[in-house]
Amino acid sequence: MNVLMEVKNLSLELGGKKILNGLSMELWESHVHAIVGTNGAGKSTLANTIMGLSGYREFEGEILFRGESLRGKDINDRAGMGITLGWQEPARYEGLKVIDFVLAPLIDKDRSAAEQALLTVGLKPEEYLYRAIDKTLSGGERKKVELASILAMKPKLAFLDEPDSGIDIESIERIFRAVKILKEHGTTVVFITHSLAVLKQADHAFLLCGGRIVDKGSVKHIRRYFEEECMPCECRDPDIRRGRNEAK
Ligand SMILES: Nc1ncnc2c1ncn2[C@@H]1O[C@H](COP(=O)(O)OP(=O)(O)O)[C@@H](O)[C@H]1O
Ligand SMILES: [Mg+2]
Repeated sequence: MNVLMEVKNLSLELGGKKILNGLSMELWESHVHAIVGTNGAGKSTLANTIMGLSGYREFEGEILFRGESLRGKDINDRAGMGITLGWQEPARYEGLKVIDFVLAPLIDKDRSAAEQALLTVGLKPEEYLYRAIDKTLSGGERKKVELASILAMKPKLAFLDEPDSGIDIESIERIFRAVKILKEHGTTVVFITHSLAVLKQADHAFLLCGGRIVDKGSVKHIRRYFEEECMPCECRDPDIRRGRNEAK
């Protein structure tokens, strides 16, 4: 297995609170990983930190992408290296049209690439290409547009934060098909999720709790832990459980 990204002992504070807490993991080339954890485990914080969003760049530890450190690199540097993020809540861009958003990262601004990507995520090009990415698009539609832009980009690494949130049931299968296409192109996909349906689509999974990876392995293995132990107890990190019991 070729390692694409290595995260070593990553810690990050937000608002004076340690949200990521010595997190380590390896992501492999052309693999679909899932990172599962309950609400507040630190999943989005991890994705935002790896992407280098502003406010998430003062981390301790190391993030290596193809052996190169991401320290000091901003979001544009990281995007240029082939790292992308589909946001949990995609942003609105007043006045920016879908076609320009999808083609923006491409050198060859080929309209048919945008059309193909929209079709794959289930948006009719004739209806959506010239729509603005503003409040007239629903959250689910903005998520699909964002996934279309990732498809057109063919990045090396794509984090998809809660890819099924706001997406209707019929469209979820399309999202999963789009992920298969990305994988065939050699993209490593990381689902960030608390949904078992999304987890099932992965090749390998991590369990995140209290800002660190507490278990990893096959989807079957992590699914069992997540359902039977993590969901009912909300946190299986022994240090955190100990802290909770002491606080009682
Ligand atoms: N900007 C922030 N300032 C302070 N705390 C934050 C901030 N963003 C997130 N948190 C806290 O960090 C924890 C993890 O949040 P998040 O990464 O969004 O969790 P998840 O995506 O796993 O649901 C939560 O307790 C959340 O309240
Ligand atoms: Mg989240």
